[in-house]
Amino acid sequence: MPRLMTFFMTHGPVIAGLSLLLASGCRPAMESEFVTGEAVKTLDEQLRQAVAAIVLERSGTPSLPKRLSDPDASKLDVQHGRDLYNRYCQQCHGVSGDGKGVAAPFLYPRPRDYRKGIFKFTSTPYGNRPRRDDLLRTLRRGIPGTSMPSFKLHAKRDLEALVDYVLLLTQRGELETRLALEAEFEEEIDPEAVPGLVTEVLSRWNAAERAEVHPLTNEPPFLTEAHVAAGREAFLSKGCSKCHGEDGRGMTKDNIGKDTWGYTTKAADLTSGLLHGGSEPLDIYRRIVSGINGTPMPGFKSSLEKEPETIWNLVAYVLHVSGQRRAGTIPTPGIFSMVTPESAKSDASDASASSAAE
Ligand code: HEC
Ligand code: HEC
Repeated sequence: MPRLMTFFMTHGPVIAGLSLLLASGCRPAMESEFVTGEAVKTLDEQLRQAVAAIVLERSGTPSLPKRLSDPDASKLDVQHGRDLYNRYCQQCHGVSGDGKGVAAPFLYPRPRDYRKGIFKFTSTPYGNRPRRDDLLRTLRRGIPGTSMPSFKLHAKRDLEALVDYVLLLTQRGELETRLALEAEFEEEIDPEAVPGLVTEVLSRWNAAERAEVHPLTNEPPFLTEAHVAAGREAFLSKGCSKCHGEDGRGMTKDNIGKDTWGYTTKAADLTSGLLHGGSEPLDIYRRIVSGINGTPMPGFKSSLEKEPETIWNLVAYVLHVSGQRRAGTIPTPGIFSMVTPESAKSDASDASASSAAE
C-alpha cells in the first residue's frame, strides 16, 4: 500500500493533531482536580496533606465544588457557574483559577490568577478586595486593550453564577494560602483554628462591600480645556509623568516594574485609547485615588485629598490624552520613539521644514 503510506507520511501530523483535538472534545480536556498552590508545596508531606484535606472539605472538587461563603448553596447553582466557567473562562484562567489556562502563555497581560484575592479594577480603596459589582462590571465590559473579553450578551443570571464561581476559586486559593502560612508558623493545623481562618478570608470580602470609594467633590458638569490644562500641570508636578512620560505614552526609564503575580508590567500607554479600567470619568477618578492593586500604579489619595479638584483635572487630562490617537493629534513620541514608516516620513518632512526655516 505505498499510496496509503505516502498519505500518512504527508498527513500524519495533521491527523495526529486532529485526533488530539477530537479526543479533547475540541476544548481543552478538563482537569479532574484542583491544582495545589505554590504556598503549600514548600510544606512537609504531613502538613501538605492536612492543608489539602481542609481545602477539600471547604471548597470541594471541580466535579462537586462548594462555596466557602455559602456551603449550603444549591449544588445545581454552583455547578451551573462551574459549567459556564469551564466553557468560557478556563482556557485562560485555568481550572483552579490560577491563571494558567492553556492559552495563558501566549497572552500579555496574563490572565488573572485569582488565588491571591487581588483584583485591579475595583471601586474600593487601595489594598481592598473588589465589590461584587466590580467583578460583574469586569465581566460585562471585559478589559479593553487586553484579551479579557466582554460577556455582556450573557443573561444576568449567568453572569451572577460566573461571579460566584470566580469567588469560589478565589476564596479557595486564599484559604489554601492562609492555611499554608498557619501550618508553616505553627508546624501543625489545629482544627479548632480553621473556622477563624475561614472567617478571616471572608471578612475582607464583606468589608469591601461597604468600602466603595465616592468622589470627594462632585464631578464637574463639563470637563473643559481649562480642566485639561490644569490637569496637565498636575500630571507633570505630581509624579505621573515619571512613569507615564510627559506625553502619557509610558516608555520612560522608570516605567518597568513587576506586578504582584511576578510578571513584568509597564505604565499604561494612556494614549492608546483603550483604558483597561474603563473610560468613564469615575473609573479614571478611582484609578488615580485608589491606584491599581498588584501593580506599581500607586493610589494618590493622601497626596490629593487636600486638593480634590486636582483629581478631576487629572481625569480631564487622562481623557484628553486617551482621545488623541482617535482625534489624530497624537503627540510626537518621546525619547524611546518607535520608528514606523509613517513617523519616519513625517520626521523627514519635519526636518526638511525646519532646515528650510533656518
Ligand atoms: C482570552 C483569555 C480570557 C478569557 C477567555 C477570559 N479572561 Fe478574564 N482575564 C484575562 C486577562 C488577560 C485578564 C487580566 C487583564 C489585566 O491584567 O489587565 C483577565 C482578568 C480577569 C479578571 C480580573 C479583573 C481585575 O479587576 O483584576 C476577572 C474577574 C476575570 N478576568 C474573569 C473572567 C471570567 C469570569 C471569564 C469567563 C466568563 C474570563 N475572565 C474569561 C483573559 C481572559
Ligand atoms: C510608579 C509608576 C506610576 C506612577 C507614578 C503613576 N502611574 Fe499610572 N500606572 C502605572 C502602571 C504600571 C499602570 C498600569 C497598571 C496595570 O494595569 O498593569 C498605570 C495605570 C494608570 C491608569 C489606568 C490606565 C488604564 O488602562 O485604565 C491611569 C488612568 C493612570 N495610571 C494615571 C496616572 C496618574 C494620573 C498618575 C499621577 C497622579 C499616575 N498614573 C502615576 C504606573 C504609574
